[in-house]
Amino acid sequence: MNLNKKTVRDLNVSGKRVLVRCDFNVPLSDGAITDDKRIRESLPTIRYLLENGAAVILCSHLGRPKNGPEEKYSMKPVAERLGELLGKPVALAADVVGGDAAAKAKALRAGEVLLLENVRFEKGETKNDPELSKKLASFADLFVNDAFGTAHRAHSSTAGIARYLPAVSGFLIEKELKFLGGALENPARPFVAILGGAKVSDKIGVIESLLGKADRILVGGGMAYTFYKAMGYQIGASICEDDKVETAKRLIDLAKEKKVPLLLPVDNVIADAFSADAAKKTAAPADGIPDGWMGMDIGPETVRAFSEAVRTAKTVVWNGPMGVFELAPFAEGTRAVAKAMAQSDAVTIIGGGDSAAAAAQLGFEEQITHISTGGGASLEFLEGLELPGVACLQDR
Ligand code: 3PG
Repeated sequence: MNLNKKTVRDLNVSGKRVLVRCDFNVPLSDGAITDDKRIRESLPTIRYLLENGAAVILCSHLGRPKNGPEEKYSMKPVAERLGELLGKPVALAADVVGGDAAAKAKALRAGEVLLLENVRFEKGETKNDPELSKKLASFADLFVNDAFGTAHRAHSSTAGIARYLPAVSGFLIEKELKFLGGALENPARPFVAILGGAKVSDKIGVIESLLGKADRILVGGGMAYTFYKAMGYQIGASICEDDKVETAKRLIDLAKEKKVPLLLPVDNVIADAFSADAAKKTAAPADGIPDGWMGMDIGPETVRAFSEAVRTAKTVVWNGPMGVFELAPFAEGTRAVAKAMAQSDAVTIIGGGDSAAAAAQLGFEEQITHISTGGGASLEFLEGLELPGVACLQDR
């Protein structure tokens, strides 16, 4: 996939209606936004367009509504938060491509902002229905995709619409491609990848892809136990994907063949129950985990080794927590990796999802070079897959 895409800077937007697809799929609790990072990250593109004389029509999905419009999936909280951040009103259309949206889009003037309702209220959206793409396109002169978090979906508003309007990227997609693409294509070395999270199945493609690119891969989190099982160790009641044990063996062999160290934790914090007040101790994998006990975090020796690997790296990409960090007694491994990255002089990149949330929750967000707004999208990108929401944009 060519990453050298035209951006809003390459267009004359003055006096134009510009439709911008954002990823405003933010977490909500009782109708209130609990993390507005994705909204904040969309501001540079929106501000640029407004300052350069465009009328800005925004659209996004929120959640996964399946049955048409539903109040709990309305973009209303997003319109309010965005209005606060921009310091100007953001009008909300009552529908996506219906009469209200069409009338409001038509009446919109340069310097004004309109947000359409949740694009997934239209059933055609996730089917990449060309009729929906055409209707959306009819509101505007130009299309800007800035929804990196949704770029792995080929939907009407992310990819389909690019067939009907000149389509370029916004500043967020440009930034994501610069950092994630830079790590894959031309990393400062040593390039260290740290992969965690519960499941090997989520990371197989990423490990395969990075085995051709990284200088070493550190594996922590729940998925380490599937690897231990593949190595013949007793893992007690630890999380394990039995149907991925063979895959884990294959990845270990592939790493040997490519001569890329694939490093597993040398010790772990294990517990006798999945709870914050469980009994816990440190154990080396080769000693085996007793029945009824389970791995919950990487141990102190591993923390030292992983922190040292980060300290001596020039590029670090991290995806997936090292342990059950939502339970305080088992958050140390994840905290230590986030801290090592925060203190490092390397280019440090966190690929969305849980590890991004962990870095934010632990207070290290500001000191990381780039925290991706994409969970699934950044994983697919690291796997080397084409992202339809990027591939559809004009090459420079
Ligand atoms: C995300 O949060 O990963 C994106 O917004 C995509 O959402 P989806 O998985 O519902 O397509």
